[in-house]
Amino acid sequence: MEWATPTLAFYGLGAAALATSLLTLRRRLELSKAKHITLTGHANLARRLASLVPFYDYEECRFFFSDDAPEEIVARRRAGFMRLSALYDARFAETIKHTADVTDRIPDLKFTDTYRVPFQYSRVLRQHLKSAAFVQSSAGVMLSDLDGNQFYDLTASYGVNLFGNDFYKDTIARAVERVGELGPVLGPYHPVIADNVTRLQEISGLDEVSFHMSGTEAVMQAVRLARYHTRRSHLVRFCGAYHGWWGDVQPGIGNPVPARETYTLKEMSDETLRVLRTRRDIACVLVNPLQALHPNAPPPTDASLVDGARSAHFDKNAYTDWLKRLRAVCTEQNIVLIFDEVFVGFRLAMGGAQEYFGVRADLVTYGKTLGGGLPVGVLCGRKHLMQRFRDDRPADICFARGTFNSHPYVMAAMNEFLRYLDTPRARKTYGHLEQTWNARARQLNERLRDEALPVEVANMSSIWTVCYLRPSRYNWMLQFYLRAELLALSWIGTGRLIFSLNYTDADFQAVADRFVAAARAMEQDGWWWHPPAATNTSIKRHLLKEMIAHRLSRNGDRAKPR
Ligand SMILES: Cc1ncc(COP(=O)(O)O)c(C=O)c1O
Repeated sequence: MEWATPTLAFYGLGAAALATSLLTLRRRLELSKAKHITLTGHANLARRLASLVPFYDYEECRFFFSDDAPEEIVARRRAGFMRLSALYDARFAETIKHTADVTDRIPDLKFTDTYRVPFQYSRVLRQHLKSAAFVQSSAGVMLSDLDGNQFYDLTASYGVNLFGNDFYKDTIARAVERVGELGPVLGPYHPVIADNVTRLQEISGLDEVSFHMSGTEAVMQAVRLARYHTRRSHLVRFCGAYHGWWGDVQPGIGNPVPARETYTLKEMSDETLRVLRTRRDIACVLVNPLQALHPNAPPPTDASLVDGARSAHFDKNAYTDWLKRLRAVCTEQNIVLIFDEVFVGFRLAMGGAQEYFGVRADLVTYGKTLGGGLPVGVLCGRKHLMQRFRDDRPADICFARGTFNSHPYVMAAMNEFLRYLDTPRARKTYGHLEQTWNARARQLNERLRDEALPVEVANMSSIWTVCYLRPSRYNWMLQFYLRAELLALSWIGTGRLIFSLNYTDADFQAVADRFVAAARAMEQDGWWWHPPAATNTSIKRHLLKEMIAHRLSRNGDRAKPR
Protein backbone atom coordinates (compact mmCIF):
# COMPACT_ATOMS: atom_id res chain seq x y z
CA MET A 1 0.00 0.00 0.00
CA GLU A 2 1.03 3.58 -0.66
CA TRP A 3 1.10 4.79 2.96
CA ALA A 4 3.05 1.74 4.14
CA THR A 5 6.49 3.07 3.20
CA PRO A 6 6.30 6.38 5.14
CA THR A 7 4.65 4.61 8.05
CA LEU A 8 7.35 1.98 8.17
CA ALA A 9 9.98 4.72 7.94
CA PHE A 10 8.21 6.56 10.74
CA TYR A 11 8.16 3.44 12.95
CA GLY A 12 11.77 2.77 12.00
CA LEU A 13 12.78 6.28 13.05
CA GLY A 14 10.80 5.90 16.26
CA ALA A 15 12.50 2.62 17.06
CA ALA A 16 15.92 4.12 16.36
CA ALA A 17 15.14 7.12 18.56
CA LEU A 18 13.92 4.81 21.32
CA ALA A 19 17.04 2.65 21.06
CA THR A 20 19.23 5.77 21.22
CA SER A 21 17.33 7.08 24.24
CA LEU A 22 17.63 3.72 25.97
CA LEU A 23 21.33 3.61 25.27
CA THR A 24 21.76 7.16 26.57
CA LEU A 25 19.78 6.24 29.66
CA ARG A 26 21.95 3.19 30.18
CA ARG A 27 25.13 5.25 29.87
CA ARG A 28 23.73 7.75 32.36
CA LEU A 29 22.92 4.95 34.79
CA GLU A 30 26.40 3.50 34.39
CA LEU A 31 27.86 6.91 35.05
CA SER A 32 25.74 7.35 38.18
CA LYS A 33 26.84 3.96 39.47
CA ALA A 34 30.48 4.92 38.98
CA LYS A 35 30.10 7.94 41.24
CA HIS A 36 31.05 7.61 44.84
CA ILE A 37 28.12 7.59 47.21
CA THR A 38 29.53 10.45 49.30
CA LEU A 39 29.26 14.12 48.38
CA THR A 40 32.90 13.99 47.27
CA GLY A 41 31.61 11.92 44.36
CA HIS A 42 28.94 14.50 43.47
CA ALA A 43 30.80 17.73 42.91
CA ASN A 44 27.93 19.91 41.73
CA LEU A 45 25.55 18.76 44.44
CA ALA A 46 28.28 19.30 47.05
CA ARG A 47 28.78 22.85 45.81
CA ARG A 48 25.06 23.57 45.95
CA LEU A 49 24.72 22.11 49.44
CA ALA A 50 27.80 23.98 50.65
CA SER A 51 26.16 27.23 49.65
CA LEU A 52 23.25 26.39 51.97
CA VAL A 53 25.37 25.81 55.08
CA PRO A 54 24.66 28.75 57.39
CA PHE A 55 27.32 30.48 59.38
CA TYR A 56 27.08 30.00 63.11
CA ASP A 57 29.65 29.42 65.78
CA TYR A 58 29.95 28.47 69.42
CA GLU A 59 30.25 31.03 72.14
CA GLU A 60 33.07 30.41 74.57
CA CYS A 61 31.03 28.34 77.01
CA ARG A 62 29.49 26.14 74.29
CA PHE A 63 32.93 25.69 72.73
CA PHE A 64 33.83 23.27 75.54
CA PHE A 65 30.66 21.22 75.66
CA SER A 66 29.29 21.03 72.13
CA ASP A 67 28.98 17.29 72.84
CA ASP A 68 27.10 17.93 76.12
CA ALA A 69 30.01 16.75 78.23
CA PRO A 70 29.57 16.71 82.02
CA GLU A 71 30.82 19.65 84.06
CA GLU A 72 33.93 17.91 85.31
CA ILE A 73 35.08 17.24 81.73
CA VAL A 74 34.22 20.78 80.64
CA ALA A 75 36.33 22.16 83.51
CA ARG A 76 39.28 19.99 82.48
CA ARG A 77 38.97 21.05 78.87
CA ARG A 78 38.74 24.72 79.80
CA ALA A 79 41.76 24.52 82.10
CA GLY A 80 43.80 22.68 79.48
CA PHE A 81 42.80 25.16 76.79
CA MET A 82 43.71 28.17 78.90
CA ARG A 83 47.01 26.57 79.86
CA LEU A 84 47.81 26.07 76.17
CA SER A 85 46.72 29.63 75.43
CA ALA A 86 49.07 31.05 78.07
CA LEU A 87 51.87 28.83 76.83
CA TYR A 88 51.36 29.99 73.22
CA ASP A 89 51.25 33.67 74.25
CA ALA A 90 54.47 33.34 76.22
CA ARG A 91 56.43 31.02 73.98
CA PHE A 92 55.41 32.35 70.54
CA ALA A 93 54.95 36.03 71.46
CA GLU A 94 57.01 37.63 68.69
CA THR A 95 55.87 35.20 66.01
CA ILE A 96 52.22 35.72 66.96
CA LYS A 97 52.66 39.49 66.87
CA HIS A 98 54.16 39.43 63.37
CA THR A 99 51.38 37.15 62.17
CA ALA A 100 48.63 39.32 63.62
CA ASP A 101 50.14 42.36 61.90
CA VAL A 102 49.72 40.87 58.42
CA THR A 103 46.89 38.36 58.60
CA ASP A 104 44.23 40.85 57.53
CA ARG A 105 46.29 41.85 54.52
CA ILE A 106 47.17 38.39 53.22
CA PRO A 107 44.05 36.50 52.13
CA ASP A 108 45.95 33.21 51.98
CA LEU A 109 46.85 33.56 55.63
CA LYS A 110 43.36 34.69 56.60
CA PHE A 111 41.90 31.65 54.86
CA THR A 112 44.28 29.08 56.34
CA ASP A 113 43.98 30.63 59.76
CA THR A 114 40.19 30.43 59.64
CA TYR A 115 40.03 26.88 58.31
CA ARG A 116 42.33 25.06 60.71
CA VAL A 117 39.39 23.57 62.58
CA PRO A 118 35.66 23.03 61.96
CA PHE A 119 34.13 26.49 61.46
CA GLN A 120 31.92 26.36 64.54
CA TYR A 121 34.99 26.43 66.79
CA SER A 122 37.22 28.70 64.74
CA ARG A 123 36.51 32.12 66.32
CA VAL A 124 37.06 31.14 69.96
CA LEU A 125 40.03 29.06 69.01
CA ARG A 126 41.72 31.91 67.12
CA GLN A 127 41.17 34.25 70.06
CA HIS A 128 43.09 31.99 72.40
CA LEU A 129 45.44 29.81 70.34
CA LYS A 130 46.80 32.46 68.07
CA SER A 131 48.31 31.71 64.76
CA ALA A 132 52.09 31.95 64.41
CA ALA A 133 52.91 31.77 60.71
CA PHE A 134 56.53 32.96 60.54
CA VAL A 135 59.79 31.06 60.62
CA GLN A 136 63.29 32.46 60.62
CA SER A 137 65.65 29.63 59.80
CA SER A 138 66.02 25.91 59.20
CA ALA A 139 68.72 23.37 59.98
CA GLY A 140 68.65 19.59 59.85
CA VAL A 141 65.05 18.59 60.43
CA MET A 142 64.31 21.68 62.53
CA LEU A 143 62.61 25.00 61.87
CA SER A 144 63.12 28.06 64.09
CA ASP A 145 60.45 30.67 64.63
CA LEU A 146 60.93 34.36 65.46
CA ASP A 147 61.08 33.56 69.17
CA GLY A 148 63.94 31.13 68.73
CA ASN A 149 61.81 28.02 69.27
CA GLN A 150 63.08 24.93 67.49
CA PHE A 151 60.35 22.81 65.89
CA TYR A 152 60.62 19.40 64.30
CA ASP A 153 59.41 20.01 60.76
CA LEU A 154 56.53 17.67 59.89
CA THR A 155 55.35 19.79 56.95
CA ALA A 156 58.22 19.04 54.55
CA SER A 157 57.18 22.24 52.76
CA TYR A 158 54.05 20.62 51.26
CA GLY A 159 56.16 17.64 50.26
CA VAL A 160 58.86 19.62 48.45
CA ASN A 161 61.43 18.93 51.13
CA LEU A 162 62.50 15.36 50.45
CA PHE A 163 66.18 15.35 51.37
CA GLY A 164 66.24 18.02 54.09
CA ASN A 165 66.26 21.80 53.90
CA ASP A 166 70.07 21.95 54.00
CA PHE A 167 70.22 19.87 50.84
CA TYR A 168 68.03 22.39 49.00
CA LYS A 169 70.00 25.34 50.36
CA ASP A 170 73.13 23.79 48.83
CA THR A 171 71.31 22.91 45.63
CA ILE A 172 70.12 26.48 45.16
CA ALA A 173 73.51 27.95 46.04
CA ARG A 174 75.26 25.73 43.51
CA ALA A 175 72.60 26.51 40.91
CA VAL A 176 73.11 30.24 41.33
CA GLU A 177 76.82 29.72 40.86
CA ARG A 178 76.43 27.52 37.79
CA VAL A 179 74.13 29.81 35.83
CA GLY A 180 75.13 33.13 37.44
CA GLU A 181 76.97 34.20 34.33
CA LEU A 182 73.78 34.00 32.29
CA GLY A 183 71.48 35.29 35.02
CA PRO A 184 67.69 35.29 34.67
CA VAL A 185 67.62 35.32 30.88
CA LEU A 186 64.42 33.77 29.57
CA GLY A 187 63.60 32.48 26.12
CA PRO A 188 66.93 31.00 25.02
CA TYR A 189 67.97 28.01 27.12
CA HIS A 190 70.92 27.52 29.41
CA PRO A 191 72.79 24.34 28.29
CA VAL A 192 72.01 22.62 31.61
CA ILE A 193 68.50 21.93 30.31
CA ALA A 194 69.74 19.22 27.95
CA ASP A 195 71.01 17.08 30.80
CA ASN A 196 67.72 17.55 32.67
CA VAL A 197 65.80 16.29 29.66
CA THR A 198 68.03 13.24 29.29
CA ARG A 199 67.74 12.36 32.99
CA LEU A 200 63.97 12.88 33.03
CA GLN A 201 63.58 10.69 29.95
CA GLU A 202 65.42 7.94 31.80
CA ILE A 203 63.48 8.35 35.03
CA SER A 204 60.06 8.56 33.40
CA GLY A 205 60.73 6.11 30.56
CA LEU A 206 58.98 8.66 28.31
CA ASP A 207 60.10 10.46 25.16
CA GLU A 208 59.73 14.18 25.67
CA VAL A 209 59.74 16.72 28.48
CA SER A 210 58.11 20.13 28.94
CA PHE A 211 58.82 22.58 31.73
CA HIS A 212 56.27 24.68 33.57
CA MET A 213 56.11 26.89 36.62
CA SER A 214 53.96 24.82 38.95
CA GLY A 215 52.41 21.39 39.33
CA THR A 216 49.03 22.90 38.53
CA GLU A 217 50.27 24.09 35.15
CA ALA A 218 51.93 20.77 34.32
CA VAL A 219 48.58 19.05 34.95
CA MET A 220 46.76 21.65 32.84
CA GLN A 221 49.10 20.98 29.96
CA ALA A 222 48.77 17.19 30.31
CA VAL A 223 44.98 17.39 30.12
CA ARG A 224 45.03 19.92 27.28
CA LEU A 225 47.29 17.68 25.20
CA ALA A 226 45.16 14.62 25.92
CA ARG A 227 42.05 16.47 24.72
CA TYR A 228 43.85 17.79 21.65
CA HIS A 229 45.17 14.45 20.50
CA THR A 230 42.13 12.32 21.27
CA ARG A 231 39.69 15.02 20.08
CA ARG A 232 37.55 14.09 23.07
CA SER A 233 36.21 16.49 25.66
CA HIS A 234 36.17 14.89 29.10
CA LEU A 235 38.73 14.17 31.74
CA VAL A 236 38.18 11.60 34.43
CA ARG A 237 39.53 12.34 37.86
CA PHE A 238 39.01 10.23 40.94
CA CYS A 239 36.94 11.14 43.90
CA GLY A 240 38.90 13.16 46.46
CA ALA A 241 42.11 13.42 44.42
CA TYR A 242 43.96 16.73 44.39
CA HIS A 243 45.62 17.81 41.15
CA GLY A 244 46.20 21.50 41.83
CA TRP A 245 43.64 24.25 41.83
CA TRP A 246 42.92 24.67 38.12
CA GLY A 247 39.13 24.62 37.54
CA ASP A 248 38.64 21.43 35.52
CA VAL A 249 40.53 19.23 37.98
CA GLN A 250 39.03 20.85 41.05
CA PRO A 251 35.27 20.68 40.61
CA GLY A 252 32.86 21.15 43.47
CA ILE A 253 33.44 23.03 46.69
CA GLY A 254 36.10 25.70 46.30
CA ASN A 255 35.49 26.35 42.61
CA PRO A 256 32.76 28.88 41.81
CA VAL A 257 32.36 27.55 38.25
CA PRO A 258 30.99 24.05 37.55
CA ALA A 259 33.49 21.87 35.72
CA ARG A 260 31.28 20.65 32.87
CA GLU A 261 33.78 18.44 31.11
CA THR A 262 35.03 16.52 34.12
CA TYR A 263 33.78 13.20 35.38
CA THR A 264 34.58 12.53 39.01
CA LEU A 265 34.46 8.75 39.42
CA LYS A 266 35.09 6.12 42.09
CA GLU A 267 38.63 4.86 42.32
CA MET A 268 39.29 1.10 42.55
CA SER A 269 35.90 0.35 41.07
CA ASP A 270 34.67 -1.95 38.30
CA GLU A 271 31.85 0.49 37.61
CA THR A 272 34.43 3.12 36.70
CA LEU A 273 36.15 0.71 34.33
CA ARG A 274 32.78 0.03 32.70
CA VAL A 275 32.27 3.77 32.11
CA LEU A 276 35.75 4.05 30.61
CA ARG A 277 34.94 1.14 28.30
CA THR A 278 31.61 2.46 27.10
CA ARG A 279 31.77 6.25 26.84
CA ARG A 280 33.29 7.82 23.76
CA ASP A 281 33.96 11.30 25.14
CA ILE A 282 36.78 10.47 27.60
CA ALA A 283 40.15 11.94 26.66
CA CYS A 284 42.15 11.05 29.75
CA VAL A 285 42.21 9.62 33.25
CA LEU A 286 44.14 11.45 35.94
CA VAL A 287 45.59 9.41 38.79
CA ASN A 288 47.14 10.86 41.92
CA PRO A 289 48.85 7.82 43.47
CA LEU A 290 48.76 9.47 46.89
CA GLN A 291 45.09 8.46 46.96
CA ALA A 292 46.24 4.90 47.56
CA LEU A 293 46.48 5.92 51.22
CA HIS A 294 42.80 6.88 51.36
CA PRO A 295 41.02 5.96 48.12
CA ASN A 296 38.03 8.17 47.27
CA ALA A 297 38.51 10.45 50.27
CA PRO A 298 39.57 14.09 49.98
CA PRO A 299 42.88 15.28 51.42
CA PRO A 300 42.41 14.87 55.16
CA THR A 301 42.18 18.29 56.70
CA ASP A 302 41.38 18.98 60.35
CA ALA A 303 38.80 21.57 59.21
CA SER A 304 36.53 18.65 58.34
CA LEU A 305 37.46 16.56 61.35
CA VAL A 306 34.06 16.85 63.02
CA ASP A 307 34.12 13.27 64.35
CA GLY A 308 36.44 10.25 64.34
CA ALA A 309 35.54 8.93 60.91
CA ARG A 310 38.79 9.76 59.14
CA SER A 311 40.32 6.54 57.92
CA ALA A 312 43.39 5.63 55.94
CA HIS A 313 45.06 2.38 55.03
CA PHE A 314 47.59 1.72 52.32
CA ASP A 315 47.32 -1.61 50.51
CA LYS A 316 50.07 -1.62 47.91
CA ASN A 317 48.99 -4.86 46.23
CA ALA A 318 45.38 -3.79 45.86
CA TYR A 319 46.36 -0.42 44.41
CA THR A 320 48.88 -2.00 42.04
CA ASP A 321 46.19 -4.35 40.81
CA TRP A 322 43.84 -1.41 40.27
CA LEU A 323 46.42 0.57 38.31
CA LYS A 324 47.11 -2.45 36.10
CA ARG A 325 43.44 -2.87 35.29
CA LEU A 326 43.09 0.84 34.65
CA ARG A 327 46.12 0.76 32.35
CA ALA A 328 44.61 -2.10 30.34
CA VAL A 329 41.28 -0.34 29.83
CA CYS A 330 42.94 2.95 28.87
CA THR A 331 45.08 1.14 26.31
CA GLU A 332 42.05 -0.69 24.92
CA GLN A 333 40.01 2.53 24.59
CA ASN A 334 42.81 4.90 23.52
CA ILE A 335 42.31 6.94 26.66
CA VAL A 336 45.40 8.81 27.82
CA LEU A 337 46.52 7.63 31.25
CA ILE A 338 48.11 10.44 33.24
CA PHE A 339 49.97 9.87 36.49
CA ASP A 340 50.10 13.05 38.50
CA GLU A 341 53.28 12.51 40.48
CA VAL A 342 53.68 16.11 41.58
CA PHE A 343 53.44 14.94 45.19
CA VAL A 344 54.68 11.37 45.26
CA GLY A 345 57.26 11.52 42.44
CA PHE A 346 60.73 10.78 43.92
CA ARG A 347 59.21 10.22 47.36
CA LEU A 348 58.18 6.58 46.88
CA ALA A 349 61.01 5.48 44.62
CA MET A 350 63.66 7.07 42.46
CA GLY A 351 61.59 6.23 39.38
CA GLY A 352 58.46 7.58 41.02
CA ALA A 353 55.06 5.91 41.23
CA GLN A 354 55.55 4.24 37.85
CA GLU A 355 58.49 2.30 39.24
CA TYR A 356 56.96 1.80 42.68
CA PHE A 357 53.72 0.27 41.35
CA GLY A 358 55.24 -1.20 38.21
CA VAL A 359 52.74 0.48 35.90
CA ARG A 360 53.55 2.86 33.02
CA ALA A 361 51.51 5.93 32.18
CA ASP A 362 51.29 7.86 28.88
CA LEU A 363 51.90 11.23 30.49
CA VAL A 364 53.47 11.91 33.88
CA THR A 365 53.55 15.18 35.78
CA TYR A 366 56.21 16.03 38.35
CA GLY A 367 56.86 19.10 40.46
CA LYS A 368 57.64 20.09 44.03
CA THR A 369 60.98 18.51 44.95
CA LEU A 370 62.16 18.20 41.35
CA GLY A 371 62.78 21.97 41.28
CA GLY A 372 65.62 21.47 43.77
CA GLY A 373 63.88 23.92 46.11
CA LEU A 374 62.58 26.30 43.42
CA PRO A 375 59.09 26.40 41.86
CA VAL A 376 58.49 23.99 39.02
CA GLY A 377 56.13 21.73 37.11
CA VAL A 378 57.25 19.14 34.58
CA LEU A 379 55.40 17.04 32.08
CA CYS A 380 56.94 13.93 30.52
CA GLY A 381 55.11 12.08 27.80
CA ARG A 382 55.02 9.85 24.79
CA LYS A 383 56.16 11.55 21.60
CA HIS A 384 52.82 11.50 19.78
CA LEU A 385 51.05 13.03 22.80
CA MET A 386 53.55 15.80 23.48
CA GLN A 387 53.45 17.32 19.98
CA ARG A 388 51.69 20.69 19.95
CA PHE A 389 50.72 20.82 16.28
CA ARG A 390 49.40 18.53 13.57
CA ASP A 391 51.61 17.69 10.63
CA ASP A 392 48.66 17.83 8.23
CA ARG A 393 46.77 20.82 9.76
CA PRO A 394 49.21 23.68 10.34
CA ALA A 395 46.65 25.99 11.94
CA ASP A 396 45.32 23.40 14.39
CA ILE A 397 47.76 23.81 17.26
CA CYS A 398 47.76 23.14 21.01
CA PHE A 399 49.13 26.26 22.67
CA ALA A 400 51.23 26.34 25.83
CA ARG A 401 53.60 29.02 27.07
CA GLY A 402 54.75 30.53 30.36
CA THR A 403 57.19 33.40 30.86
CA PHE A 404 59.23 31.70 33.56
CA ASN A 405 59.23 28.17 32.09
CA SER A 406 62.80 26.84 31.89
CA HIS A 407 64.19 29.58 34.13
CA PRO A 408 67.99 29.06 34.26
CA TYR A 409 68.12 29.06 38.08
CA VAL A 410 65.32 26.48 38.30
CA MET A 411 66.88 24.35 35.58
CA ALA A 412 70.23 24.37 37.38
CA ALA A 413 68.68 23.57 40.77
CA MET A 414 66.77 20.75 39.09
CA ASN A 415 69.99 19.47 37.60
CA GLU A 416 71.65 19.45 41.02
CA PHE A 417 68.68 17.49 42.36
CA LEU A 418 68.74 15.00 39.50
CA ARG A 419 72.48 14.48 39.71
CA TYR A 420 72.21 13.80 43.42
CA LEU A 421 69.93 10.87 42.60
CA ASP A 422 72.92 9.23 40.95
CA THR A 423 75.03 9.28 44.12
CA PRO A 424 75.59 6.23 46.36
CA ARG A 425 74.12 8.22 49.23
CA ALA A 426 70.82 8.73 47.43
CA ARG A 427 70.71 5.09 46.34
CA LYS A 428 71.26 4.04 49.96
CA THR A 429 68.37 6.25 51.12
CA TYR A 430 65.99 4.75 48.57
CA GLY A 431 67.24 1.24 49.27
CA HIS A 432 65.48 0.91 52.61
CA LEU A 433 62.96 3.71 52.41
CA GLU A 434 59.74 1.83 52.80
CA GLN A 435 60.96 -0.49 55.56
CA THR A 436 62.31 2.47 57.52
CA TRP A 437 59.09 4.46 57.45
CA ASN A 438 56.81 1.48 57.93
CA ALA A 439 58.84 0.44 60.96
CA ARG A 440 58.68 3.94 62.41
CA ALA A 441 54.91 4.11 61.94
CA ARG A 442 54.52 0.70 63.57
CA GLN A 443 56.70 1.73 66.47
CA LEU A 444 54.71 4.90 67.14
CA ASN A 445 51.42 3.01 66.91
CA GLU A 446 52.67 0.44 69.43
CA ARG A 447 53.52 3.19 71.90
CA LEU A 448 50.13 4.83 71.43
CA ARG A 449 48.41 1.47 71.89
CA ASP A 450 50.46 0.65 75.00
CA GLU A 451 49.26 3.87 76.61
CA ALA A 452 45.68 3.28 75.40
CA LEU A 453 45.69 6.60 73.58
CA PRO A 454 42.85 6.74 71.04
CA VAL A 455 44.91 7.73 68.07
CA GLU A 456 47.02 5.98 65.44
CA VAL A 457 48.89 6.79 62.26
CA ALA A 458 48.52 5.31 58.78
CA ASN A 459 51.31 5.79 56.29
CA MET A 460 52.42 5.47 52.74
CA SER A 461 56.15 5.50 53.18
CA SER A 462 57.06 8.96 54.58
CA ILE A 463 53.56 10.43 54.10
CA TRP A 464 51.45 9.97 57.22
CA THR A 465 47.88 10.57 58.31
CA VAL A 466 46.64 10.66 61.87
CA CYS A 467 43.45 8.67 62.47
CA TYR A 468 41.27 8.82 65.56
CA LEU A 469 39.73 5.89 67.36
CA ARG A 470 37.03 7.69 69.34
CA PRO A 471 33.92 9.43 68.06
CA SER A 472 34.95 12.74 69.58
CA ARG A 473 34.00 16.15 68.28
CA TYR A 474 37.37 17.50 69.39
CA ASN A 475 39.94 15.34 67.62
CA TRP A 476 41.20 18.46 65.78
CA MET A 477 42.54 19.76 69.13
CA LEU A 478 45.51 17.40 68.80
CA GLN A 479 47.24 19.73 66.33
CA PHE A 480 47.47 22.39 69.07
CA TYR A 481 48.95 19.97 71.60
CA LEU A 482 51.47 18.90 68.96
CA ARG A 483 52.44 22.53 68.39
CA ALA A 484 52.91 23.00 72.11
CA GLU A 485 55.38 20.10 71.90
CA LEU A 486 57.17 22.01 69.13
CA LEU A 487 56.09 19.79 66.28
CA ALA A 488 55.37 21.94 63.21
CA LEU A 489 52.39 20.90 61.05
CA SER A 490 51.03 22.50 57.91
CA TRP A 491 47.73 24.36 58.05
CA ILE A 492 45.64 21.26 57.33
CA GLY A 493 46.80 19.88 60.65
CA THR A 494 47.04 16.23 61.58
CA GLY A 495 45.73 14.96 58.23
CA ARG A 496 49.21 15.10 56.74
CA LEU A 497 52.49 14.63 58.48
CA ILE A 498 55.21 14.61 55.86
CA PHE A 499 58.76 13.66 56.75
CA SER A 500 61.94 14.58 54.95
CA LEU A 501 64.17 11.59 54.43
CA ASN A 502 67.05 13.02 56.47
CA TYR A 503 65.22 12.14 59.71
CA THR A 504 67.56 9.95 61.73
CA ASP A 505 66.31 7.33 64.17
CA ALA A 506 67.15 9.73 67.00
CA ASP A 507 65.19 12.56 65.36
CA PHE A 508 62.26 10.27 64.85
CA GLN A 509 62.45 9.03 68.42
CA ALA A 510 62.20 12.64 69.62
CA VAL A 511 59.16 13.24 67.41
CA ALA A 512 57.53 10.04 68.68
CA ASP A 513 58.16 11.08 72.32
CA ARG A 514 56.57 14.45 71.71
CA PHE A 515 53.67 12.98 69.78
CA VAL A 516 52.88 10.60 72.63
CA ALA A 517 53.25 13.40 75.19
CA ALA A 518 50.84 15.60 73.19
CA ALA A 519 48.26 12.82 72.93
CA ARG A 520 48.63 12.07 76.64
CA ALA A 521 48.03 15.72 77.56
CA MET A 522 45.01 15.88 75.29
CA GLU A 523 43.58 12.76 76.89
CA GLN A 524 44.18 14.17 80.40
CA ASP A 525 42.47 17.41 79.43
CA GLY A 526 39.30 15.50 78.58
CA TRP A 527 38.96 16.21 74.85
CA TRP A 528 38.48 12.55 74.03
CA TRP A 529 35.57 12.11 76.36
CA HIS A 530 32.44 11.35 74.36
CA PRO A 531 28.86 10.47 75.24
CA PRO A 532 28.75 6.70 75.77
CA ALA A 533 26.27 6.17 72.95
CA ALA A 534 27.99 8.50 70.49
CA THR A 535 29.00 7.22 67.09
CA ASN A 536 30.48 9.05 64.15
CA THR A 537 27.09 8.85 62.47
CA SER A 538 25.28 10.27 65.48
CA ILE A 539 27.72 13.20 65.59
CA LYS A 540 27.12 13.95 61.91
CA ARG A 541 23.37 13.71 62.42
CA HIS A 542 23.57 16.07 65.37
CA LEU A 543 25.60 18.58 63.35
CA LEU A 544 23.16 18.39 60.47
CA LYS A 545 20.27 19.15 62.81
CA GLU A 546 22.23 22.06 64.24
CA MET A 547 22.83 23.48 60.78
CA ILE A 548 19.21 23.08 59.75
CA ALA A 549 18.09 24.79 62.93
CA HIS A 550 20.43 27.71 62.26
CA ARG A 551 19.36 27.88 58.66
CA LEU A 552 15.74 28.07 59.68
CA SER A 553 16.20 30.50 62.51
CA ARG A 554 16.32 34.19 61.73
CA ASN A 555 19.44 34.43 63.83
CA GLY A 556 21.16 31.94 61.57
CA ASP A 557 20.32 34.04 58.53
CA ARG A 558 21.44 37.27 60.10
CA ALA A 559 24.66 36.03 61.61
CA LYS A 560 27.70 36.99 59.61
CA PRO A 561 31.12 35.41 59.78
CA ARG A 562 33.53 37.50 61.77
C1 LIG B 1 49.23 15.61 43.04
C2 LIG B 1 49.36 17.10 42.89
N1 LIG B 1 49.17 17.64 41.69
C3 LIG B 1 49.29 18.96 41.49
C4 LIG B 1 49.60 19.81 42.53
C5 LIG B 1 49.72 21.27 42.30
O1 LIG B 1 51.04 21.67 42.33
P1 LIG B 1 51.41 23.20 42.61
O2 LIG B 1 50.99 23.51 44.00
O3 LIG B 1 52.89 23.27 42.37
O4 LIG B 1 50.64 24.00 41.61
C6 LIG B 1 49.80 19.29 43.80
C7 LIG B 1 50.10 20.16 44.94
O5 LIG B 1 50.05 19.80 46.08
C8 LIG B 1 49.67 17.89 43.99
O6 LIG B 1 49.84 17.33 45.20
